[in-house]
Amino acid sequence: IGTIGSPTHRVVDVHTHMYPPKYIELLESRSSIPLIRKFAGAKEPRLIILPAEAESLDKTAGSTETSSSHLPGRPVTTHYSSLAQKLHFMDTHGIDISVISLANPWLDFVAPEEAGEAAKAVNQEFASMCAEPSAVGRLFFFATLPLTAPPETLLAAVGHVRSLRHCRGVILGTSGLGKGLDDPALVPVFRALAANRLTVFLHPHYGLPSEVWGPRATEEYGHVLPLALGFPMETTIAVARMYLAGVFDQVPDLRLLLAHSGGTLPFLAGRIESCVVHDGHLVKEGKVGPGRRTVWQVLREQIYLDAVVYSEVGLKAAVDASGADRLMFGTDHPFFPPLGSDEQGEWESVTWNAEAVKKALGDGTDAARAVMGGNAVEILRLHEDS
Ligand code: URA
Ligand code: ZN
Repeated sequence: IGTIGSPTHRVVDVHTHMYPPKYIELLESRSSIPLIRKFAGAKEPRLIILPAEAESLDKTAGSTETSSSHLPGRPVTTHYSSLAQKLHFMDTHGIDISVISLANPWLDFVAPEEAGEAAKAVNQEFASMCAEPSAVGRLFFFATLPLTAPPETLLAAVGHVRSLRHCRGVILGTSGLGKGLDDPALVPVFRALAANRLTVFLHPHYGLPSEVWGPRATEEYGHVLPLALGFPMETTIAVARMYLAGVFDQVPDLRLLLAHSGGTLPFLAGRIESCVVHDGHLVKEGKVGPGRRTVWQVLREQIYLDAVVYSEVGLKAAVDASGADRLMFGTDHPFFPPLGSDEQGEWESVTWNAEAVKKALGDGTDAARAVMGGNAVEILRLHEDS
């Protein structure tokens, strides 16, 4: 992608996950999804997290089939938990700095009375990784919130993570406190995050109800439909709901970084606008008056988008919607490893995203450099070491 060490042209990966050892242990102890389980005949244990995978997990239970292409989930390699492996991956792809985050489904499934401590343990593990001598200056992180915990524990967690060196925000799924991100009960949490300049990295997990994929999906279509379409629609719906609920107006300092270039939001913002303006109910309620901020304004003022969309077509829509100064490169490591080549070498999923930036903004242009790293350094304050 570029040469490491050019101080003026840093390459930063803002969408890159890890499951630290304590979280892996938590998943290994479970018997329903999300879980990690060993299968006879498979070298690596399997990570089974997606709702769409639950069905194939049930099927495997009753069969002796052990061919790895038929096992549910994905193999848990060292790429998921090893700091050395993350740094090797960064070096291989010319990535100077990574802003790591716990991967889905975070602590969404943890019992209310355990969530606070679990979040502390996970966030402490991330803070320690970023403070390792081999990582200092190269790793920052998005923390995890104990969303199932009582409100006071949740707000205390915001106070905890803001004090952690190298923490630059929090990763958040779309379920919120159980009712989604347009839940008024979340507003105090958003206010606390905004007041502490913690960016919310909004990331999907739940997709869409599995019926929409039809009866053939589990057997024949792999993970394509939930990952390629369910994930981005989930993000789109979550942000549209926040917009309609007025969350962006209630918390004007809130900053959201949307995974996968905003799902389909850049492409559909015009349609959302039209549906708002032509909605009799909203008009009657006075919600479409002259003071209304449009989706387009929110996209340019409160939203950042990652560049994890794998094609210049989607990336151009993201640039048009939010501006090249609000777009940030990402890889989604350790997901989407190369299946036909060495995992220690170059990952095609990464080069596709880097190529898309070049094609959309021009090779070596200021805008391309900003997207590859400059924006992240500024927006997430990666030049500060506290
Ligand atoms: N699959 C997941 O479960 N999460 C990601 O972030 C990417 C792929
Ligand atoms: Zn991801």
